Amino acid sequence: MRYAAITGLGMAVPERILTNADLERMVDTSDEWIVSRTGIRERRVVGPNDSTTSLSVAAGRQALEQAGLTADDIDLIIVATCTPDQFVVSEACLVQAELGGAAAAFDIGAACSGFVYALSVATSFIQQGMHNRVLVIGADTFTRFIDYTDRSTCILFGDGAGAVVLEPTDEPRGLLNTVLGANGTGNKHLYAPGWGAVVPESAELFPEYRPYLQMNGQEVFRFAVRVMGDAAAEAVERSGLTFADVDMLVPHQANARIIDAAARRLDLPREKVWVNVDRYGNTSAASVPIALAEAAAAGHLDEGDNVVLVAFGAGLTWAAGMVRWGVAGVRRLSPHRADAATNDLVVAVGEPVHG
Ligand code: ACO
Repeated sequence: MRYAAITGLGMAVPERILTNADLERMVDTSDEWIVSRTGIRERRVVGPNDSTTSLSVAAGRQALEQAGLTADDIDLIIVATCTPDQFVVSEACLVQAELGGAAAAFDIGAACSGFVYALSVATSFIQQGMHNRVLVIGADTFTRFIDYTDRSTCILFGDGAGAVVLEPTDEPRGLLNTVLGANGTGNKHLYAPGWGAVVPESAELFPEYRPYLQMNGQEVFRFAVRVMGDAAAEAVERSGLTFADVDMLVPHQANARIIDAAARRLDLPREKVWVNVDRYGNTSAASVPIALAEAAAAGHLDEGDNVVLVAFGAGLTWAAGMVRWGVAGVRRLSPHRADAATNDLVVAVGEPVHG
């Protein structure tokens, strides 16, 4: 049985910080309201020189470096995003152009659930032997599509990118199972009109056709609390484990109250839940890989740990997965021999890069 271990992680956020105090000067809100309702204290916002591509490339480079690989070693790049720099071509192709190499490349759109969807697709490609080494990136720059006069949405979002490298192993490592779901009838609770191939009847309407994110916050909140808990619990149960076996929950960082509800559903203490929503807000598809990269960098994930990922997003979509942490069994092709025109490759055991 082939598995897909996570052998490298990376993250990137813009330098520019937008604090609650900054927002107090922009809309009728307060630090007290934002912190008590969402847990968010500040978020990172793209500047003129940042883009979904620049953040993705920075996170991708970091993940490759941690895995001890170059772009030439990667044979597939998947970018989960709702905010690509352009619709033609894919974000993944823009990233490949910057990173180099000749990997196949495509995007996945499942909003904030996108990274877990992408991880699931990449893992199954590796398990089937279709690809060997995959770079999976979650990246979004939603602040480009936020109406900064709308206090109900502008306080929530930040920008960023997170990345992982997946490599094959015979040991049960990486994503062991996933729970993916969608309810398209909920699409009008969280959406951005005027941002696709449907255009107004008259060109004169274009100025009013505002491509801003629209949200029914209370409806999304109720949905999120329900699916985050249910999907995470299902991922644990499908793995034949109990909640007591979970070492870390890495949830989508949308709102601290939603995260608390998911943690309660799994009966997890605070120290087993990674929370950084206070510093980044909701970075959409980047949120789970950024949280994962931070948890690993802080030394909170050890070889063999059971890590639950869970997310929800526009669509409406949801996704959860059980990850067995570590790089056991990952075997690296020696670069020298890999270049040789032979199938008789000598393999070297890869160095653990974390955990
Ligand atoms: N500052 C002060 N007051 C505010 C603000 C603000 N920033 N925003 C709303 N209010 C007011 C409302 O106008 C309302 O006032 P009223 O009672 O006079 O009408 C009051 O606060 C309560 O508003 P609610 O919407 O009931 O507040 P709630 O407790 O539900 O919190 C929130 C709102 C934070 C948006 C919450 O509903 C939420 O987090 N929902 C989930 C949103 C989410 O996660 N979206 C991202 C999905 S991911 C993706 O795919 C992009």
